[in-house]
Amino acid sequence: MASAVQKRQVKKMLISVTAPKKGMGQTITAINLGTMITKLIEEKILFVDINRHYKDIELYLSDTHITKGLDDFCSLYHSGLLSQEAFNFCVKNIDDHIEIMGACECFEMNPEEVEVLTQYIKNSHNMAVIDTISGNHALSKAFFKQSDILVVVINQMKNLIDSLSQHHVYRQHHDKIIFVLNKYIDKMQGNQVTYSFDQIQRDLKRQGFNRPVFTLDFDIELINECNDQAVLNFVMANSTSSYIKQLNDLAAYILKGGNDEEPLDKKTAEAPKKWFNIIPGCSRKTALMEE
Ligand SMILES: Nc1ncnc2c1ncn2[C@@H]1O[C@H](COP(=O)(O)OP(=O)(O)OP(=O)(O)O)[C@@H](O)[C@H]1O
Ligand SMILES: [Mg+2]
Repeated sequence: MASAVQKRQVKKMLISVTAPKKGMGQTITAINLGTMITKLIEEKILFVDINRHYKDIELYLSDTHITKGLDDFCSLYHSGLLSQEAFNFCVKNIDDHIEIMGACECFEMNPEEVEVLTQYIKNSHNMAVIDTISGNHALSKAFFKQSDILVVVINQMKNLIDSLSQHHVYRQHHDKIIFVLNKYIDKMQGNQVTYSFDQIQRDLKRQGFNRPVFTLDFDIELINECNDQAVLNFVMANSTSSYIKQLNDLAAYILKGGNDEEPLDKKTAEAPKKWFNIIPGCSRKTALMEE
């Protein structure tokens, strides 16, 4: 198997993924990014869902309804029984490399609890990805504060891009934001899409967001894998699409600490085959192609 991306450079990281509004592909971006990171570094990753109303992480990744997560953490914390060992019982194992924590249903977390939770996460995992609540939400803000990187999923809608500087929280965290232009298309049925990547990058700079912008192309195969309940398979077994190459670049950039000091190490990781056999719901179609 390809060796991990220079393991010595990998540091502990908490990544929050968010979006200015619903339906931008935030959860799928969080899952694919986390999966690409774990594929590159060959270490466990923890996905944390904080949205009690949708529970997207569980929906995409868990094949049973037995949940573990933030409610377990809160009840341990409130009862004074929280320890690093007890924390392990708040985490649900999906496969050898992927674990999840489901959103709270019973408790309302406050910023202090979020701070304690993130400490426990950092003690137990090198990498964690938080699927936050899109828009302007107090709980998400508490997680942004504790995160090393803030991935903001955006689209090609000019009004939306122009409104980003009005989000006080994005301005506040501008130095750790990475914008991801998701479902990107430059042409449709032979026609050029007028609001291009270059213009979007210029508009973001004009608003004071100077950090790099990444694109993830619109990819029909991703929709198919979501419908086959094989979302992990999309990253683990696919290495040729433009989306996967872009995702690889984004993950490599984040693993370097999310800065431009060093050139990106563009490593195209090969799918470790032993993995997708154990991924729940791995689509037969892709598995057969791999064989
Ligand atoms: N780059 C992409 N190309 C094609 N389809 C995509 C892409 N990104 C996301 N999608 C599709 O968009 C749909 C919704 O994605 P997702 O569940 O991540 O949205 P969301 O932003 O988390 O929604 P919500 O705000 O309601 O939680 C999924 O079916 C997913 O496959
Ligand atoms: Mg979602």
